Amino acid sequence: MNCNIAVIKGDGIGPEVVSEAMKVLDAVGVKYGHTFNYEQLLMGGCSIDVHGVPLTDEAVARAKAADAVLLGSIGGNTSTSPWYKLPPEKRPEAGLLKIRKELGLFANLRPAFLYNELKGACPLKEEIADKGFDMMIMRELTGGLYFGARETKELDGVLTAVDTLTYNENEIRRIAIKGFDIAMKRRKKVTSVDKANVLDSSRLWRKIVEEVAKDYPEVTYEHMLVDNCAMQLVKDPAQFDVVLTENMFGDILSDEASMITGSIGMLASASLNETKFGMYEPSGGSAPDIAGQNKANPIATILSAAMMLRYTFDMDKEADAIEAAVQQVLVENYRTCDIVSEGTELVSCSQMGDLIAARV
Ligand code: IPM
Ligand code: MG
Repeated sequence: MNCNIAVIKGDGIGPEVVSEAMKVLDAVGVKYGHTFNYEQLLMGGCSIDVHGVPLTDEAVARAKAADAVLLGSIGGNTSTSPWYKLPPEKRPEAGLLKIRKELGLFANLRPAFLYNELKGACPLKEEIADKGFDMMIMRELTGGLYFGARETKELDGVLTAVDTLTYNENEIRRIAIKGFDIAMKRRKKVTSVDKANVLDSSRLWRKIVEEVAKDYPEVTYEHMLVDNCAMQLVKDPAQFDVVLTENMFGDILSDEASMITGSIGMLASASLNETKFGMYEPSGGSAPDIAGQNKANPIATILSAAMMLRYTFDMDKEADAIEAAVQQVLVENYRTCDIVSEGTELVSCSQMGDLIAARV
């Protein structure tokens, strides 16, 4: 198969981790007879430096024309980088929000899985980590607080900021359907997370999820308040299969879920629209503190490339091969610095890429 991939390496550790994912994809190409064509696009701080904006319309059009987008990370140090002296709509993150919206990527899948080999890196108590966990955080990605009207103004001499949290029933229904569809392919359980004891948007969320659930009699579902969910994630993560939630709650809960897998460097993600198109990226940030040092963990990006093969290109066996290769290097005790522990071997970002590519 001939696959056209738009590659956005981005800022910070982005270029390093994406290069390793491309290395692994190329190994898959050789082994299974596929050709991956890459077109590099700019987004984030690197685009600001060249074009003065975090994402050009031209880059959006080229991303749309591709079959899928492979993304690294964007942004820099928010207190020291000159990018953060710009007005908010010109900053690196605005590029990411724009591409999510323009490509209609409303469904963000973030699988959090505890590898046996990484139990030691999990910060939870041994008896909790021992049980393991395997959950899919389904985060709504193009609505809610991220996209509502916002402004900061003086009201009666007092500086006042407003952010608006809006959801309509259609936005809720389409992500709920995706969530239940994914649950059908997993352990058939959905935990819908909201703050229905306070927010109207959450009360609507709950109502629509209940309607959608009627079409999936095989799926057990429950509602959980977001504060309780944050607690349950560290108390008993094994209880979760699909965690279905809105944009801001999903942002926060997915970072929490990543940390209990051992490192945010392990958490892959796929952002999907109604078609086969998707944007695939590690859930973690650009980590400017370790950028350019060949230290970053490329596994999340490599696993995101595996998600791309699975969801956009329907290449299940190729995706399985990447996932098995990742598991294999962990069994063989190779670790990047974020997950290294006694008795394991420290490797660099590019060595990790080589090791995984050699095992696909
Ligand atoms: C994420 C990131 C982004 C988000 C930032 C960089 C805008 O934290 O993908 O989780 O909040 O969505
Ligand atoms: Mg986040």
